[in-house]
Amino acid sequence: MPAGGTRLVQPTDATIDHAGALIREGRLVAFPTETVYGLGADATNDRAVAAIFAAKGRPQFNPLIVHFAVSAEVERHALMTEAGRRLAQAFWPGGLTLVLRRRDDTAISLLASAGLDTIAVRVPAHDIAHRLLAAAGRPVAAPSANLSGSVSATTAAHVLGSFGAEVALVVDGGPCPIGIESSVVDVSGEVPLLLRPGAVTSEALEAVVGRLAVPGHQAGPLRSPGLLERHYAPSRPPRLDARTAQEGEILLGFGPEAPADAANLSRSGDLAEAAANLFAMLRALDRPEFGRIAVMNIPETGLGRAINDRLRRAAAPSGPALR
Ligand code: TXA
Ligand code: MG
Repeated sequence: MPAGGTRLVQPTDATIDHAGALIREGRLVAFPTETVYGLGADATNDRAVAAIFAAKGRPQFNPLIVHFAVSAEVERHALMTEAGRRLAQAFWPGGLTLVLRRRDDTAISLLASAGLDTIAVRVPAHDIAHRLLAAAGRPVAAPSANLSGSVSATTAAHVLGSFGAEVALVVDGGPCPIGIESSVVDVSGEVPLLLRPGAVTSEALEAVVGRLAVPGHQAGPLRSPGLLERHYAPSRPPRLDARTAQEGEILLGFGPEAPADAANLSRSGDLAEAAANLFAMLRALDRPEFGRIAVMNIPETGLGRAINDRLRRAAAPSGPALR
């Protein structure tokens, strides 16, 4: 590895300890979670958090998720609510992010909240993420480890392909088991709001807290800047609900009806398998010689909602892309 270059390491006790020490020194460390890879930094260090925005090319108004090793730590930094507690009990550790009001005395960088009076928090279940958070000994701000506006990274190779020496270490945990980002639920107000469908299905969330409201396109401040229309995008907007590839297109199939020679998110039509394959397949097909990606219909149920949410954003014509 060239001096100063990004370093890829296998997870051992020694490399995880080292990764924790790098975080405490204010450096950036990429690590696997059960959803996608995160680009982590000490959430209490303004300069380290600023380095995340710089590395991703992310607009400063898009806030970050802060990760904790154990849920008991969350309440030192955020004001837990009844709905939040119920969801945390049911789904933490796991692929759920809660938006809560910040405590006045929290040491978490305001930059991580991007100026909002709320903070997004998550306790991941992935063993390597858990060990790294414990080794760091502080909350770790980590967006998905991709350049802003492009698809999330679900392997260490994706991370290495996007970043250089600004990332001190990439911990290789293999492909992320879920492969799609966490569900984001705002439980800071009276009514729980589903800000981003994700790894925990809406059906499962609603079984715990009842009907979730979905933010409309009303005027007013953005509840979640990550909801900007065009996001999670390959270089050219894909065409959705395709049956076959047209001239100048390559098909991304789903289910047994897809042509046998097409890339297929899940030949058996399994939505969990499709979620796990989504970003890696979009990346693999996103090449000029293939033309535009045409994606077959994905059922709007369970994890299909999160998959379709990402595909619709990728297909949105233009607008405020988060590049
Ligand atoms: O699965 C995941 O959630 C991954 C792993 C690494 O944890 N992280 C991730 O982070 O996807 P990111 O930064 O790519 O997406 C965070 C989402 C964005 O849509 C952001 O706008 C929203 O959460 N968000 C963060 N803080 C918020 C806040 N205070 N209020 C509303 N939305 C917030
Ligand atoms: Mg992201």
